[in-house]
Amino acid sequence: MSAVRSVLVTGAGRGIGEATARRFADAGYLVGAYDLQPCAWAEGDARIVTGALDVTAPAAWEEALAELTARSGGALDVLVNNAGLLYGTPFMDASYERDSALVDVNVKGVLYGCRAAHPYLAGASAPTVVNVCSASAIYGQAEMAVYSATKFAVRGITEALDLEWGPEGIRVCSVWPLYVGTGMLEGVDTAGMRNMGVRLTEGDVAGEILDLAEQTRREPSGVLGRIRGVLGREVHRPVGRQAAAMYLASQLVPSRIIRLTNQRLTS
Ligand SMILES: NC(=O)c1ccc[n+]([C@@H]2O[C@H](COP(=O)([O-])OP(=O)(O)OC[C@H]3O[C@@H](n4cnc5c(N)ncnc54)[C@H](O)[C@@H]3O)[C@@H](O)[C@H]2O)c1
Repeated sequence: MSAVRSVLVTGAGRGIGEATARRFADAGYLVGAYDLQPCAWAEGDARIVTGALDVTAPAAWEEALAELTARSGGALDVLVNNAGLLYGTPFMDASYERDSALVDVNVKGVLYGCRAAHPYLAGASAPTVVNVCSASAIYGQAEMAVYSATKFAVRGITEALDLEWGPEGIRVCSVWPLYVGTGMLEGVDTAGMRNMGVRLTEGDVAGEILDLAEQTRREPSGVLGRIRGVLGREVHRPVGRQAAAMYLASQLVPSRIIRLTNQRLTS
């Protein structure tokens, strides 16, 4: 059991990752804010450990986790797999290299993070993994085929590990924002983005991530907690009204209608 609640956030150099790291620090957590380079914004803040962590490198995961948990009493309470890449262009305008980069960071980065963090999560109370997924895991998005595919993979990883690790008391869940006004969207000009607009801020997403971690903490532990986990625990959380409506529709409406709606929204 950790002496102080701790969280490791990947891709914390800017955008949603930075906002999430700041939000957890303000909530009293010891924060590991990692990115390809140490996070300049976190330097000098005693609540935050920062360093370099390329999520595609298993050894870097091992090092970062050892460094952070040495300060937290040996356990990790929350892992936020946030680092991600996007290209938003017609599929054939990209390249093999860009396809690989997205799969490496968005999919392998999440797998490696979960694998490396599991021993530390297993020693925590109310441990939670929050994977930053996307509304593009609801239906494949034109001009974002590879990105969508990687987020479908994140959806699968989340669902599978939530089932597999639930009996150990480890919750695995995800957030599904639509477009968020961060540097990731610079230079992106897809029809879907023009039609739906950019209505979310990084703070909106960070707030939901912190809320999911705190929700796990409030849940009953022991047998009651396990029953709750099996019966009704929230696994995916859409962020914002648009994503919530799309997610709900995908649960209720026949897929042909969902396809038609997506065709209209992305052309
Ligand atoms: N911005 C959006 O519209 C939006 C919508 C839905 C989901 N998301 C997801 O939110 C997450 C964060 O996105 P953002 O909008 O803050 O993007 P961003 O581009 O502002 O930040 C992403 C961060 O990830 C880091 N990163 C990239 N490759 C890395 C690697 N190999 N190892 C470690 N860090 C790496 C970058 O350096 C950067 O700091 C991503 O997973 C993204 O797919 C974003």
